[in-house]
Amino acid sequence: MHFKKYIFLLLMLASTVSLRVSGQTWIVPDDQKAVTAPAKFTPEMQKQGEVIYTKNCQSCHGLPGKDNWVKQLVPPPGDLAKEKAQKQTDGEIFFRITTGKAPMPEFRNIIPEEDRWSVIAFLRSFNPKYVQPAPKALASFSGRIVTLAMQYNDPMKKIVVTAHEKLKDNDNSPAEGIGVMIYVKRYFGSMQVGEMKTTNARGEALFEFPADLPGNGTGAVEVTARVNDPKNQMKTTPVTASLSIGVPTSRPGLTETRAWWSTRAHAPIALLLTYAFAFVIVWGLILYILISILKIKKLSHA
Ligand code: HEC
Repeated sequence: MHFKKYIFLLLMLASTVSLRVSGQTWIVPDDQKAVTAPAKFTPEMQKQGEVIYTKNCQSCHGLPGKDNWVKQLVPPPGDLAKEKAQKQTDGEIFFRITTGKAPMPEFRNIIPEEDRWSVIAFLRSFNPKYVQPAPKALASFSGRIVTLAMQYNDPMKKIVVTAHEKLKDNDNSPAEGIGVMIYVKRYFGSMQVGEMKTTNARGEALFEFPADLPGNGTGAVEVTARVNDPKNQMKTTPVTASLSIGVPTSRPGLTETRAWWSTRAHAPIALLLTYAFAFVIVWGLILYILISILKIKKLSHA
């Protein structure tokens, strides 16, 4: 039956696409490995972490220490209480939870940062050998007055954000250990570029950006840098600059031309084709099932 073959081919196609996604590597940058939890893990954090874990992680990773993770998943999620996960640094695990990797979801916008650390506190409670590295003193952030500046370093091809702070005797000393994030402006709000970086002894945090970042007609991109200060302990304001780091792109207005969100007449061909393709497959499958059911009925009447 040709129709069956056709469906089989489609399924093959779909599975190669998903295999390609799962084949990507999951490398944790060195500076992210060195990240430490903002506070000492407490029994309360572990309890909180257990709640978050049960809700968000257990469905794939199973109960820690019980080796009952979902065996059908590729690549295997594994038991997070085991050596393979536990030998990683807190920063490494934090990065993995934040970024995810198919089929594991990206939890950046799902679990708040504080709760991601609680999950790690919970997971560490299964490792008797674990000794928590001293948290970088975040408490001392309170009341600091930090000024940011931003520049593009052409030879290094990096965005350099410099943090200075006002101390008693000096108005402009480099601020070390400040978490900085950068964003680029997009149609709808802004998009974070890369991960948070922590300023070094010179008060600098260096950011790479994608080489194919679309800019405006002349390649300018509006970049904003801000301090990671979720509890609003510091006195600081974000800086914004227009940097020539993008690929010149003539952007259509929101309502005029072919854009993903505009009306059907303007929709890109790829979107129409994808939609039509999905439409045919779904209805094809439903029809196929209906026909099969009818056949069963006919057989039972015969
Ligand atoms: C949809 C299933 C799924 C969910 C939900 C999920 N994960 Fe994963 N996770 C995976 C898979 C699959 C891998 C293996 C990925 C790989 O190695 O390429 C993985 C890998 C990891 C790793 C790296 C393990 C190692 O040995 O290197 C960590 C850490 C991790 N997950 C933590 C979590 C936490 C914490 C949560 C909940 C907040 C979570 N995951 C939720 C599927 C999932």
